[in-house]
Amino acid sequence: MPTRTVIEPFRIKSVEPISRTTQAQRQQLLESAGYNLFLIPAEFILIDLLTDSGTNAMSTGQWAAMMRGDESYAGSPSFERLQASVQAIMGFKHVIPTHQGRAAERILFATMCKQGDVVPNNTHFDTTRANCEFAGAEAVDLPVPEALQPSILHPFKGNMDTTALKLLIDRVGVDRVPLVMLTVTNNSGGGQPVSMANLKAVKAVCARHGIPLYLDACRFAENAYFIKLREPGYANRTPREIAQEMFHNCDGCTMSAKKDGLANIGGFLCTNDDALARQEENLLILTEGFPTYGGLAGRDLEAIAVGLNEALSEEYLNYRITSTTYLGSHISAEGVPIIQPPGGHAVYIDARAFLPHLSPHHFPGVALAAELYLEGGIRSVEIGTLMFGKRDETGVERCAAMDLLRLAIPRRVYTQSHIDYVVEVILDVWKRRDKIRGLELIYEAPVLRHFTARLQPLHT
Ligand code: F0G
Repeated sequence: MPTRTVIEPFRIKSVEPISRTTQAQRQQLLESAGYNLFLIPAEFILIDLLTDSGTNAMSTGQWAAMMRGDESYAGSPSFERLQASVQAIMGFKHVIPTHQGRAAERILFATMCKQGDVVPNNTHFDTTRANCEFAGAEAVDLPVPEALQPSILHPFKGNMDTTALKLLIDRVGVDRVPLVMLTVTNNSGGGQPVSMANLKAVKAVCARHGIPLYLDACRFAENAYFIKLREPGYANRTPREIAQEMFHNCDGCTMSAKKDGLANIGGFLCTNDDALARQEENLLILTEGFPTYGGLAGRDLEAIAVGLNEALSEEYLNYRITSTTYLGSHISAEGVPIIQPPGGHAVYIDARAFLPHLSPHHFPGVALAAELYLEGGIRSVEIGTLMFGKRDETGVERCAAMDLLRLAIPRRVYTQSHIDYVVEVILDVWKRRDKIRGLELIYEAPVLRHFTARLQPLHT
């Protein structure tokens, strides 16, 4: 077979108009939003790469399944179909639906953690970290050293540093480590995958100490496909088989179905532990809903049940990973510094290297996001000092390890010409990068400040 262009493996049945604004309007909008793109109304965004979460385009199969959604409060057959879908892929005994991933996280940490505990992860996502800390535990990131060097090529930059994990457990004591988590793919670390070998090595450390291993499984299908492409021994296995092997080596998972569930809302929490599941379900009833709907409509359960399977389609995953790589390689070919190699759901620009004249204290990632919006109506998100930086006791800002700008690609939403436009806009900003000014905070909330922060350009 000749190598041909990888095409979108779908045709478009229903279209959603996108609206243009002028540069003058965008300047105004930026000022009134305090240079925070979360605060700009979506109708004024041309290409929205803020997140791949809940922004998926659903298939005819999912829409059809939604029509048979059973809205019974208890015992809905829609839940049974979700449970069957999850169990066929993930194999866990208990499937607890939640309205989205962070609800699963809250219930997990509230049930498993106590004050003073420590939860290691390759890199905690922001809501994971916040929920862990809310439960009184310390969220510790243990990425491999390569993860912190954006330009280095490594097939599995999402891996956890297993030596650091062993040292941490020895230092704090097993009793203070109620679980270990692995985020697949590692979103905050650049959408990078975790290898099967690393997953098994982490599991071996956990097993030696009797500590359960949980996956933050949001992008499990993309991770499975990277294993197929990059890890010796997996080339002839299907993404589904690889995903099954990943989950088989774990004791539970949290899931946001807004990613590889190909749905617009939903999530779940899984465990093999009966006693734990009972406690989790009791908490679920208190705040989310009865255990057969967990805060979701029956039709949402149906959309997820179908979406999880579609996300494992090899042709879909090939298109998905190819299109993300296309964006990454076209901008990096012109010198734009990105985390190499491009991630599964997103391309991450190294904003500190893009804007070396800005101090990390002046939020290079946020400044770059504002410029891409101003130039071409593109919305992206900073994953850096605004999201992860913290003030110490004296009020001094401790910057994040990296200042990244994430361009997240919604699943099955944009075509190649949209992506070509994004490449053009980024390259135009790249040409005038020396002129871009830093920002300073004028308002910040005490937790998850990036959602509502307001900033202004530095005057110097
Ligand atoms: N874990 C990871 C790795 C995530 O990327 C997210 C969400 C969550 C947990 C929480 O799931 O949103 O359903 O509550 N990430 C989105 C993003 C918000 O833009 O990356 P949720």
